[in-house]
Amino acid sequence: MFDLLSVLLVFFVLIPLLYFFSASFSESLALVILIVISIPTVMAMINGAPYVPTPMARVEKMVALAKLKKNQRVYDLGCGDGRFVYLAANRYGAKATGIELSPLVWLLAKVRQWLWKSKAEIRFGNFKFHDLSDAEVIFCYLLPETLAKIQPDLDKKIKAGTKVFSYAFTIPQWKLIGREDRNVKENLAPVYIYEKP
Ligand SMILES: C[S@@+](CC[C@H](N)C(=O)[O-])C[C@H]1O[C@@H](n2cnc3c(N)ncnc32)[C@H](O)[C@@H]1O
Repeated sequence: MFDLLSVLLVFFVLIPLLYFFSASFSESLALVILIVISIPTVMAMINGAPYVPTPMARVEKMVALAKLKKNQRVYDLGCGDGRFVYLAANRYGAKATGIELSPLVWLLAKVRQWLWKSKAEIRFGNFKFHDLSDAEVIFCYLLPETLAKIQPDLDKKIKAGTKVFSYAFTIPQWKLIGREDRNVKENLAPVYIYEKP
């Protein structure tokens, strides 16, 4: 932890300060923009998970397993390029929302939204501060430590009957209602399925 803090201080405080006092206005502005973009990205990587998309074969499988119905309320916590929510909205007519904290990844999701002509919504922000009380289905692909941290909060936030599909990692304390095993041949991680009692 101390090492990580030192690296962050050097990159985000010391180097920018040294640069700031020796650079022109436009160079300083570029640096400020870079820092503004980088901070949430680093926070997303440390606090949630780095941007690693779920393989499309697994996305298709997870969305199919969810048996989505028209207008169902779907969320992807840390939506990456939006692949879950676009498929859910375009193929099943779900009211899907993806939440993404990393600005560049959020931008990628917005570009893909335009390419897919999707009605899914992409919100910029931290999913920890979002109201999930109307969620009926939640998809996520987050680090095990993150899942452990958000589990008590999810317990309070989501209503009974909400299904949660977690790619690759289990959610501690919760009882599985189903799973899709790892597919070694295609290099696909398992899927864990939960339902809020
Ligand atoms: C492993 S990727 C999964 C992306 C997508 N859900 C998928 O399965 O293809 C995790 C994503 O969550 C985002 N993320 C991490 N922590 C977050 C947070 N607290 N709020 C919103 N997004 C977050 C990361 O920026 C990253 O894009």
